[in-house]
Amino acid sequence: MLSSASSTTTALALLLASVLPQAALAHYNFERLIVNGEATDPYEYVRSTTNSNSPIQEVTSPNMICNQGGNDAAIRARTKTYELAAGSEVGFDINSELGHPGPLYVYMSRAPDGVELSDYQGDGDWFKVYALTTSHIETDTGLYWATFPGSQGGAQNFTFTLPEDLPTGNYLMRGEHIALHGAGSVGGAQFYMGCAQLAVTGGGSGTPGPTVKFPGAYAEDDPGVLIGIYWPPPQEYISPGPPVWPGECEDHTLNSWGQDSDGDCNPMAQ
Ligand SMILES: *[C@@H]1O[C@H](CO)[C@@H](O)[C@H](O)[C@H]1NC(C)=O
Repeated sequence: MLSSASSTTTALALLLASVLPQAALAHYNFERLIVNGEATDPYEYVRSTTNSNSPIQEVTSPNMICNQGGNDAAIRARTKTYELAAGSEVGFDINSELGHPGPLYVYMSRAPDGVELSDYQGDGDWFKVYALTTSHIETDTGLYWATFPGSQGGAQNFTFTLPEDLPTGNYLMRGEHIALHGAGSVGGAQFYMGCAQLAVTGGGSGTPGPTVKFPGAYAEDDPGVLIGIYWPPPQEYISPGPPVWPGECEDHTLNSWGQDSDGDCNPMAQ
């Protein structure tokens, strides 16, 4: 009895092992914070999640803030805060890659003065500080994504430069990739995100904005959230959420970890 039950269990485990990784393979996590060319350990400065590497698909869910689990007290308490200067080059290393077509954004939210990031649940204002969208658009085949150059797989990491004007303070920095392969129907877009904890020093006197809240920044029918990317081939991509602060910059070329930054506002290739 026991041995047949356990061989059934083994057979089931083997079956699941052959099926499940397929589905989970293209999923991903924002796992390691990168600062000025050095990566930290996985979930050392980035809040971990409780949903493995699954996406959030309801734009009205509180999990849109820092992913599922990212606001849990125990996870907040064990995540460290990285002290760095405004103007630093920062980014995320992904486990394992941004394996679907879609845009990449980074948002920040400042904790109220005197509040430690371990006590901040991201319920304040957020501004968008980086956007990396299409590399180019072709009439016959539509949108091409800077983080998803097709045959070469998806980006495994990215970096950008924090604005010099960013005021000193404690910030959550939320990396987000929106996977659009199933976004042709409502609820089909997949949101992958992770929140790093940063103490920004030597900041400037800018006023980051416009600001939004999570959830609330996106609607399920925003043109950048509900979009069939395959047919007919779209001829433009309209980012959801606010424009980037400062300067409404939209980048169209990936800056990889380990390469010199090529600037954060590059135009699209023709
Ligand atoms: C960053 O990601 C790219 C692919 O997107 C990869 O080729 C490169 O090795 C990665 N850099 C590091 C330092 O791991």
